[in-house]
Formats: sequence, structure tokens, C-alpha cells
Amino acid sequence: MAFELPSLPYAFDALEPWIDEQTMRTHHGKHHATYVDNLNNAVAGTAFEDMEVTAILKKLYTVPDEIRAAVRNNGGGHANHTLFWETMGPNGGAPSGPLADGIAGAFGSLDDCKSSFNAAAMARFGSGWAWLVARLDGSLLIYSTPNQDGPYTQTGDTPLLGLDVWEHAYYLKYQNRRAEYVENWWNVVNWDVVAARYASAVG
Ligand SMILES: [Fe+2]
Repeated sequence: MAFELPSLPYAFDALEPWIDEQTMRTHHGKHHATYVDNLNNAVAGTAFEDMEVTAILKKLYTVPDEIRAAVRNNGGGHANHTLFWETMGPNGGAPSGPLADGIAGAFGSLDDCKSSFNAAAMARFGSGWAWLVARLDGSLLIYSTPNQDGPYTQTGDTPLLGLDVWEHAYYLKYQNRRAEYVENWWNVVNWDVVAARYASAVG
């Protein structure tokens, strides 16, 4: 069965004014769709067609040399963007419960967590992602990855938050102002989804 572009769990304009409708339409309907198409082309006729994309990424070393780069880039793009859309929503807010406790324990406060995350996002030269992950032992960690790499290839890491810092994610509205995009993005984080990921990672 071929990989498919997932529908957004909200309207294209639902994240306004922080992320504009045109960016969402292009980012989802063109960029993400292209990763899906290229992934399907790369794995056509192989056993990887029938696997979950995250399962493929976790065992990237089993993918044959001739398609490994295509799977890494386009499978990573498919997995990262799927998580990215689900991480966002129109209501924003702040974490509560065990996730809030975990963040306070790891970073001191939510603001300190955001500062570290924003620094990782800003320090990524060129295209990539910033992540907050839960490690195998339940601890929390922030890092960034280049291109479409991500936590799925890091053994035991479960992504909780992922922020796309490719220019295609913000250029139409923010041009070169990545810092403003990163800061504003916190207004559209769906903390209920993040809390559910945290619960399943440490549960
Ligand atoms: Fe993207």
C-alpha cells in the first residue's frame, strides 16, 4: 500500500496569524506531498512499501544502499511533517500534569525549556528541525537535526515536539526572520498531543 499525504487536523487558516494560510497550503500540499511521492517511488516493489514510515527510519540500516538516501530524505520528510501537523493547533496554551512536571524537572521551567529549544532552532545552519524528545529512560532532551533527519533514527528517542526550520516553513510570512517564526510558533503548539506522546513514551 502506498504512503499517503495525511489530511490536516484543522483548516489551512486555523493557525493564523502565527502561520499563514498560504504557507500551510504550500507546505502541506506541495512540500509534504512531494516527500510522499518520492518515498513511494523509492520503495516501489520492495517490502518497505508495507511498513510504517517510522519503522523504516528506525531500521534505516536495513534499507539497500541504492535507495537509502532517498528513503532517509523523503521518508524522514514524510514522518517529520506528519508529526509537525499533529503537533500544532489553534488553541495554544501551556502544558499541565506530568508533562509540565517533566519539563520543570529537566529544564527548570517552561520558559527555560523554550529558550533551549529556540536556541537549538536558531543554531541549525541551513535547513533542519528542532526537537524535544523523551529518551528511553524517560528523560527529556533538546537537539536539532539537519535536513530531514530526526529522532526516529536515534535509538530509543520519541519525538514530543518538532519544529520545521526549513525556509519553506516560514519564508512567505517571515522572510529571513527565523527567530520571530520560532518565537511565534509556541502559540500554536497543541500541548494535549504533546502530553499524550509523553505519556506513551514514559508510561
Ligand atoms: Fe517542511
